[in-house]
Parts: sequence; structure tokens; C-alpha cells
Amino acid sequence: MSYRVPADRDDQSLERAGSSPDATAVLAAHVRSKSIDDPAARSLVAAAGGVDESRFPRELVDHVVESVRVRTSFLDDVVMRSVRRGTSQIVILGSGLDTRPWRLPVPNHVHTYLVDRDGTAGFSSEVLGNSPYGQIRSVTVDVTQLHWSAKLVESGLNPDRRVLYIAEALLVYLSASAARNVAYESAGLGSPGSEFAFTYGKAQRNPDSLYSSLRKSVSEVGGEFKSAISHPQSYIDGTGWTLSEVETYDTYRSKLPDIGDNPSAWTQGREPSWLCLSAHQ
Ligand SMILES: C[S@@+](CC[C@H](N)C(=O)[O-])C[C@H]1O[C@@H](n2cnc3c(N)ncnc32)[C@H](O)[C@@H]1O
Repeated sequence: MSYRVPADRDDQSLERAGSSPDATAVLAAHVRSKSIDDPAARSLVAAAGGVDESRFPRELVDHVVESVRVRTSFLDDVVMRSVRRGTSQIVILGSGLDTRPWRLPVPNHVHTYLVDRDGTAGFSSEVLGNSPYGQIRSVTVDVTQLHWSAKLVESGLNPDRRVLYIAEALLVYLSASAARNVAYESAGLGSPGSEFAFTYGKAQRNPDSLYSSLRKSVSEVGGEFKSAISHPQSYIDGTGWTLSEVETYDTYRSKLPDIGDNPSAWTQGREPSWLCLSAHQ
């Protein structure tokens, strides 16, 4: 069953949602609405003013749609496994217009904290309202600030209980030191058994690569890739987390049903080589 936007929240009421979310978040939600069945994402994108896809190269759109399908599947699976193990606190860092709290059927006692900057953090709740699955709290935080995690506790997070953190398509937008601090501070809040799931990019220097094209398209909407990693171990070492699962998009994708839409862009070896990973204390 997927979440249906309440009938009283038509496009006009959505447009009245006061703030305007981060443009890369809108783009990601647009792509997600093409990658999986996600009516809530469609509503959020409409409320944010939509996305003109013709601005971006077709090959890139196809590739990103497939990348988002892969990372969504990986992280959805992480969430559901963690909740089955008893985790009742989920923190989505750089949450953008992530619809997981409206999409994934977690029990009512699960609290999800949607963490993003001003203008983006509360947007989804404002547009979509409460979820039939679990409780949602929006937290306005700039994760490049030291001690950003204190705001989570102020917002009700219990640091003595298990937490699942998710950083999806966030870390590349941070400097290397800010990205490390995200892992470091997350490791400090939550009981043993807490988890930190993240995606991170691999540096690609080929100017003809899809990655360069992605970087350019992202910069056109005001986003900037600020850091990259060659292997997640170098990122996670010394932060307090231990890698437990490491997948490249390629390896994880090969385990999914092949939807066969446009595999050419994927198989030409020019992919951005994003990594989907999970780690726990
Ligand atoms: C590409 S979007 C990804 C959104 C979402 N995780 C997804 O996968 O759909 C990147 C998100 O990171 C957020 N972000 C970037 N820098 C941030 C910061 N310093 N503090 C908090 N959020 C930040 C942006 O506002 C945006 O919502």
C-alpha cells in the first residue's frame, strides 16, 4: 500500500506551503517519483513548483533515475531491517523531500526525524501532513555546524536508545571535514546497535563522464559537489562507526530485478560509481 495524499491537500493548498525547499532536494524527489511508485514525492515536487526535465541531458536523467532506484531500494531495506530489530528512532540527515516516513509501513511508535536546513526541513510535513506510519519530527539544522546533533536531543531524540541514521545524497554536498563530522557526531548519539547508512560518491576525473554532466546539472540548480571518497573505509575510519555492509551501485543493482528501461547508460562504465553503505557501532 502506498501513501495517498489527503484529498484536502490539492495542488493549490500545496502551493500555499510557505517555504521553498532546496533545489537539489526537489530534483532528487522528482527523480524518485520516476524511479519508484511514490505519489507523495509527486505532490512534494508539484508543491515546490515542479522540475523542467528538458534542462538536463536525457542520458543523464535516465542514469540518475536508475541510480535513485538502486539507492532507494538499498536504504528502504536498511530501514525495514533495522525497525524489525527494534530500532524506533530514525534520523534522516539532509532529508530534502524524502518520503520514507510516508511510504514505509513502520509501526506507530517509530519516530522519524527529518533533518535539513531552514526552508527544507519542515516542507514535507507542511505539505503532506501526518503519516499513517509512525511519528514525524522536522528539525532545522545545518550539519556543517559543530554540535549540530544537540538539536536532535532538544527535539526529543533519546540518546540512550538505538538510532538509525541515514545520509542519502548528502555527503558530497559537504566539505570532507564537515562530512566526517556528520559521521563522528552521529556516532555519539545512540545506544550500541545504532546504525549509520550513507551514500557517497567516488571521485571521477574524466571530463566526459556522466559524473561531470551530473556535477554541471547540479550546479545549474545551485548545488555544489564539495567532496568525494575513493573508498568508504577512508571516510568512516576513526569516526566511531564500523563498516558492516559495503555495496557499489553496480553490485547492489545486480541483485535487483532488472527493469531493463535503459541499461545502456549504466553499462558503459561511465557511471558516477556512487556507493551505498551501512555501518554500525
Ligand atoms: C540532493 S538532496 C538529497 C535529499 C534526500 N536525502 C534525497 O535523497 O532525496 C541534498 C539535501 O542535503 C541538504 N543539505 C545540504 N547541505 C546541508 C547542510 N549543511 N545541513 C543540512 N542539510 C543540508 C539539502 O538541503 C538537500 O535537501
